[in-house]
Amino acid sequence: MSALILAPMEGLTDVHMRHVLTQISRYDWCVSEFLRITDQLLPASCFLNHCPELAHGSRTVNGTPVHLQLLGSEPEVMAENAERAAKLGAAGIDINFGCPAKTVNRHRGGAALLGESALMHDIVASVRQAVPEGTPVSAKIRLGIADSSALLENADAIHSAGASWLTIHGRTRAQGYRPPVDWQAIGRVSSRYPDWRIIANGDIGSAAAAALCREESGCDDLMLGRAAVSEPDLVQRLREPGLPALDWPAVHAWQMVFLQRMQGSEAGIVGRYKQWLGMTALVYAEAAEQFQRVKRAKRIAEVTAAVGT
Ligand SMILES: Cc1cc2nc3c(=O)[nH]c(=O)nc-3n(C[C@H](O)[C@H](O)[C@H](O)COP(=O)(O)O)c2cc1C
Repeated sequence: MSALILAPMEGLTDVHMRHVLTQISRYDWCVSEFLRITDQLLPASCFLNHCPELAHGSRTVNGTPVHLQLLGSEPEVMAENAERAAKLGAAGIDINFGCPAKTVNRHRGGAALLGESALMHDIVASVRQAVPEGTPVSAKIRLGIADSSALLENADAIHSAGASWLTIHGRTRAQGYRPPVDWQAIGRVSSRYPDWRIIANGDIGSAAAAALCREESGCDDLMLGRAAVSEPDLVQRLREPGLPALDWPAVHAWQMVFLQRMQGSEAGIVGRYKQWLGMTALVYAEAAEQFQRVKRAKRIAEVTAAVGT
């Protein structure tokens, strides 16, 4: 059975979003937002704040495993932190080589490393060595920095370092999140390594897109990001073709669960709710209409007065 995985999305798929999305659709696992590793071993509290599921066997409330994603460029420091994460019970360690953010790339992190295959190898190999054999160590990359000419070299480096699998977002760093996504390029890696798990990612937003992506990339396993948030039952419908789509009242009810369980500043909570509402407006006309009613709200009570509980 092919795997369907919830993508890491910083500022979006935090513990609260994972809590609701994994109850609407079944995911084989989720990947946490990236945890930035610089030059030191982070205290356990940092890991637990970042990924509270660690305190519950690294699983969401309905038992979906959560893998912890690390981003950094120092093999030894990455290894020390991965070891700590594994001791805290992380279900898997994923390494981010795909983040295009300038602040991250300036410090030789994320997608900047796509031009340094030897360093990517050393990071993956050190992390692999530091965590128990039973804990998967994986990597997530883009096709390359400006083009996909180094894709096979990068994949070779990660494969020879012992990564359990590789997720490929079918875009270059230069593309950011702009189309087109190139699933065929992912296929060059999956055909080179028929026995290594390659997970395809990027713009899988419908059953038709999932089928085309599988055909072009040669990958059975798919990771979904933005569409999994805009259309939270999409993954369940990929699993069960013919399942009726969730109606708006059901999605709204989940958004209220999300709103009520978040903690922190009220403005921040309302902002996160509006962020999700805005994303669902791409799919549900009712969400667009509801967004108009809450767009100026700053308090939770204003939101519930406008849209109900
Ligand atoms: C808001 C946002 C935050 C993201 N944060 C991360 C991250 O923390 N780690 C990572 O590996 N990828 C991150 N990504 C990339 C996604 O995991 C995924 O590769 C990308 O969105 C393409 O998949 P999609 O078209 O299904 O959304 C992020 C993407 C978005 C839109």
